[in-house]
Amino acid sequence: MTYVPDSSRYAAMQYRRCGNSGVMLPILSLGLWHNFGAITPFETQQAMLRTAFDHGITHFDLANNYGPPYGEAERNFGLHMERDFRPYRDELFISTKAGYDMWPGPYGDHGSRKYLMASIDQSLKRMKLDYVDVFYHHRPDPDTPIEETMGALDQIVRSGKALYVGISNYGPEQARAAIKELKRLGTPCLIHQPNYSMLNRWIEDGLTDVLREEKVGCICFAPLANGLLTGKYLDGIPADSRMAKDSRYLKPAALTDENLNKIRALKDIAEARGQKLHHLALQWVLRDEVVTTALIGASRPEQIVDNLSILDAPALTQEELEQIENILRG
Ligand SMILES: NC(=O)c1ccc[n+]([C@@H]2O[C@H](COP(=O)([O-])OP(=O)(O)OC[C@H]3O[C@@H](n4cnc5c(N)ncnc54)[C@H](OP(=O)(O)O)[C@@H]3O)[C@@H](O)[C@H]2O)c1
Repeated sequence: MTYVPDSSRYAAMQYRRCGNSGVMLPILSLGLWHNFGAITPFETQQAMLRTAFDHGITHFDLANNYGPPYGEAERNFGLHMERDFRPYRDELFISTKAGYDMWPGPYGDHGSRKYLMASIDQSLKRMKLDYVDVFYHHRPDPDTPIEETMGALDQIVRSGKALYVGISNYGPEQARAAIKELKRLGTPCLIHQPNYSMLNRWIEDGLTDVLREEKVGCICFAPLANGLLTGKYLDGIPADSRMAKDSRYLKPAALTDENLNKIRALKDIAEARGQKLHHLALQWVLRDEVVTTALIGASRPEQIVDNLSILDAPALTQEELEQIENILRG
C-alpha cells in the first residue's frame, strides 16, 4: 500500500541547530548500522523507517559498510526510498560515510582521495540518490595527509554529491586540524559523529570544547551503549537482544560488574523520575546543547516510539545530574 506519512509528523519533535549552520536536526536521529541488512525482514525495516518519519525523525544515518553484508543497508535503503520516501526527499536529511574497510585491496579502506571518491559514487548508486546531505570521513587515517582526505570531502561537495561534510571518531586535535583545513577549502565541517553515552564519556575530554569553539554540530552515536543502557542485560542475555542475535560489536564481555552496578544505580534514578533507564540515558546525552542529536538504533518500531517519550519528560535537575555524576565516577 502507498505510504502516506502522518500529517502531524512535525507536531511533537524538537529540532536543534547543527553548529552554526542553517541545518536543524531532530533531537533523535535513526541509524541503520544494525537491523537494515540481509538478516532483518524488509517489512521490519520499512516499519521502523516509516515510524521514525511519522514522528518527525528526519535524519537517517548510514555508512558504506553497514549490513551485513557490507553495502546491504544502503541497498535496502534505496528500495525504501523508491517505495516510500521519494516524494519526501526534501524533508529528509540522509548521511553516509567511508573510512573503514569496504572492498578488497589497497583502495577500499582508510582516507585516500581514491577510496572516498569511489565510495561516494557506490553509495549513491546503492541508495538510489542523486546526493547525500552529509558525507563523512568515518575515522581518522593517520597515514594519509589531512589535506588529501579533506580535499576529497570538499570535492565531493563541489561536485554536488553531498551538501555538507562531517567527520567521525576524530579525537580533539585531529578534529581541530580537519575543521581548519575544511574551513580553508571553503567547505565548513557541519558535524562530528562520536561515540558518547553514560558509559563512554571520552568526548568530554577536549572534543566538546573544540566543537563548541568551532561551532560544529555533534551527533552522538550509540547513546544507549548498544542497548546496555536499557537495563535489558541486568538479568542475563534476552534471546531477542542484540547481544544474543548479532554480537559482532556487543559481546558478553561488556557485562562487567562495574557496568552492571552503574546500570542498576542509574535505573533507580530513572525510576524515581517515573521513567525508564534508556530515557534517562538519552536525556543525559542531550543535556548540553553542544550535542545536536542522539543517534539511536532500533530493532523494532515500538522502540522508536518508546524512545520518543523523552520529548515530554521533565528536564534533569541539578540534583539528579549530580547523583548521576557520582554514579558514573564510581
Ligand atoms: N560513526 C561510527 O563509527 C558509528 C559506530 C556505531 C554506530 N554508529 C551509528 O549510531 C547508530 C546507533 O548505534 P546503536 O544502534 O549502537 O545505538 P544505541 O541506541 O546505543 O543502541 C540501539 C539498540 O538498543 C536497543 N534499544 C533501543 N531502544 C530501545 C528501547 N526503547 N527498548 C529496548 N531496547 C532498545 C536495541 O537493541 P536490541 O537489538 O537489543 O533490541 C537497539 O538496536 C548506528 O545505527 C549508526 O548509524 C556510528
